[in-house]
Amino acid sequence: VYSIEVKASSGSYPIHIKNGLLHEIGVQVKKIYKGSKIAIVTDSSVNELYGQGVINSLKVSGFEPYKIVVKSGEESKSFKTLLEVYDKFLDFNINRGDIIIALGGGVVGDMAGFAASTFLRGIPLIQIPTTLLAQVDSSVGGKVAVDLPRGKNLVGSFYMPRAVFIDPLLLRTLSERFLNDGMGEVIKYGAIKDSQLFDSLMGYENKEDLLKEIDKIIYTCCSIKAAIVEVDEKDTGERMLLNFGHTIGHAIEQFYNFKKYSHGEAVAMGMYSITKLGEELGITKIGTSISIKDILIKYNLPWMLPEINSSDIIETIGHDKKNIGKLMNFIFIKTIGNSFIDKIDKSKINNYLQEVIK
Ligand SMILES: NC(=O)c1ccc[n+]([C@@H]2O[C@H](COP(=O)([O-])OP(=O)(O)OC[C@H]3O[C@@H](n4cnc5c(N)ncnc54)[C@H](O)[C@@H]3O)[C@@H](O)[C@H]2O)c1
Ligand SMILES: [Zn+2]
Repeated sequence: VYSIEVKASSGSYPIHIKNGLLHEIGVQVKKIYKGSKIAIVTDSSVNELYGQGVINSLKVSGFEPYKIVVKSGEESKSFKTLLEVYDKFLDFNINRGDIIIALGGGVVGDMAGFAASTFLRGIPLIQIPTTLLAQVDSSVGGKVAVDLPRGKNLVGSFYMPRAVFIDPLLLRTLSERFLNDGMGEVIKYGAIKDSQLFDSLMGYENKEDLLKEIDKIIYTCCSIKAAIVEVDEKDTGERMLLNFGHTIGHAIEQFYNFKKYSHGEAVAMGMYSITKLGEELGITKIGTSISIKDILIKYNLPWMLPEINSSDIIETIGHDKKNIGKLMNFIFIKTIGNSFIDKIDKSKINNYLQEVIK
């Protein structure tokens, strides 16, 4: 059992990590919520696996739960789905004294979180992340959002949950691809802040071996993210470190319309290529990119950039909402575990990309 208290300007909230936590979710929610109505937002796949169990546990604890099931997949992070969800909130007569539970991966967490942050100017929210990516990343830090037809996460807010409940056993039903996808972010935490975590990831023999210790790994990652978001809640400085591998990664995802590569896969290629560039610029210790490549291969993640036109990547990077002007912020690592922000001229990145992409 692990607990972390995340200090936010709007008050602090706990992250509880425990194998089997979902079975006792009613009891856990009872500790922090004295009301009765609960709207659970989940997606169709998660609902099939865990929906009824959560409803039962909440009922046993005396709650009055309502379930809202959206289609699984990124399309549900849309205004269309949002309207359907608001409509259900109205049907159930959800009020500011009630609570919303987001039960699912990052898609449900982001969309239901945004719905919670905006409906009646804000309904208290509990996050129950069910993918590795959501357990180590998206459920912590309060960023919630939906997509617009012209881009991902373009409408959103910062909205802290009341609590985050993490049950690592839920990862046993996750497909191997999504597990590895989440490992992309886990590797990122190691690379930017924790060489011990990074090294330990090389040691797991197989999936079972990894899952046995995944609760501890999730705790380490959440602790790193919590420490970073505490000092930079609104994403203006330190929090940028979490973007290691993400600028190039986002460009790749976007170039393929989010169809060819998952987020973790795209970030994997981004982490490797920015580290290789760091070595060439003399700001990253030689050999670091090989360590990154080895670990990516171990978790079945790609490292080599796909053969797309470098100017297309640059153009996409240029559209990234975080970049203003000719100099762009990039996250580099000096050695595994030590990261920093550097401003790099766009043309340098372009030259480098031209070199690595045939
Ligand atoms: N808010 C943030 O800070 C933040 C950070 C990173 C990513 N994100 C967002 O997260 C989203 C991606 O999240 P994701 O990768 O979790 O995708 P997802 O929510 O689509 O989940 C992936 C798939 O796994 C299924 N699934 C979920 N839990 C399962 C389980 N326990 N067993 C079996 N299947 C399960 C889902 O139904 C879905 O099909 C993106 O929209 C991204 O923008 C947000
Ligand atoms: Zn990410």
